[in-house]
Amino acid sequence: MSTTPLLQAAGLRKTYPTGGSRLVAVEDLSFSLYAGGALGLVGESGSGKTTTVRMLVGLERPDQGEILVQGAPLAARTRGRAARLARAKAVQIVFQDPYLSLDGRISIGATLDGVLRLHGCADRPARAARVRELLAQVGLGAREAAALPRGLSGGQRQRAAIARALAVEPAVLVLDEAVSALDVSVQAQVLNLLSDIRRDTGIGLVFVSHDLAVVRYVCDEALVMYRGRTVEHQPVAELLAAPQHPYTRLLLASVPHPGWDPEGIGRRRRELASSQEAAS
Ligand SMILES: Nc1ncnc2c1ncn2[C@@H]1O[C@H](COP(=O)(O)OP(=O)(O)O)[C@@H](O)[C@H]1O
Ligand SMILES: [Mg+2]
Repeated sequence: MSTTPLLQAAGLRKTYPTGGSRLVAVEDLSFSLYAGGALGLVGESGSGKTTTVRMLVGLERPDQGEILVQGAPLAARTRGRAARLARAKAVQIVFQDPYLSLDGRISIGATLDGVLRLHGCADRPARAARVRELLAQVGLGAREAAALPRGLSGGQRQRAAIARALAVEPAVLVLDEAVSALDVSVQAQVLNLLSDIRRDTGIGLVFVSHDLAVVRYVCDEALVMYRGRTVEHQPVAELLAAPQHPYTRLLLASVPHPGWDPEGIGRRRRELASSQEAAS
């Protein structure tokens, strides 16, 4: 078995222009993801999670740092059709909004068929069988295959977007808050699906969520981001049992539980923000 990571990020930095200065969205982010591994990216809104995953799939270029996919630089893979297909095969992303992955004018079945054809499956009956299989994997059937995206519920649409990503058989699947808006029962079904696929195929997952309970279920490791910086990166079990950083402790305390104290959390949050500002 190969010991080259599926995906490696080394010292990623991304800034955006704001007025006269630059906003640091991500600072010095590094990790390695191996076959069958699942990394959770956790942090509140604005902490840099989406910027990070957009860099991982080549939608944003880092100001500094390097991304390696199966040992090769991501940036070197962009020119020409073959290179684009190779990149698609390396990393697929599912966004929170499934409309970003689905064409509103094409049925779900035709979308999946098109992806399979693009990636070299020339045999029509084989594609039809694979489309049925992909849809069944995400709990969809013939009715949904014939529907346009707007003819599905939000949960069904998101599952169709996941099936579309899986159709490519990528080395790494990135999910950016992709299950956050689903009903809990549908969410559980999709999370089970991801665990099964991971076990069966060795796909690597980068799983972005603000929900630590979901991250615990899906991931082996969690990387906690706060204002673009990595404040903690640990195996999930250790992170939950013994969080090291005040921000991680705050995230854990923010999950509703018996004896929950939202006012105290608000106070700790403000204290943390002012101590971080004093430190930077
Ligand atoms: N295209 C952009 N232009 C300017 N600022 C951006 C852009 N994208 C994100 N940001 C800023 O970068 C920071 C991180 O955003 P984002 O990566 O979307 O965080 P998250 O996904 O954790 O909510 C935020 O302050 C956000 O406003
Ligand atoms: Mg985001």
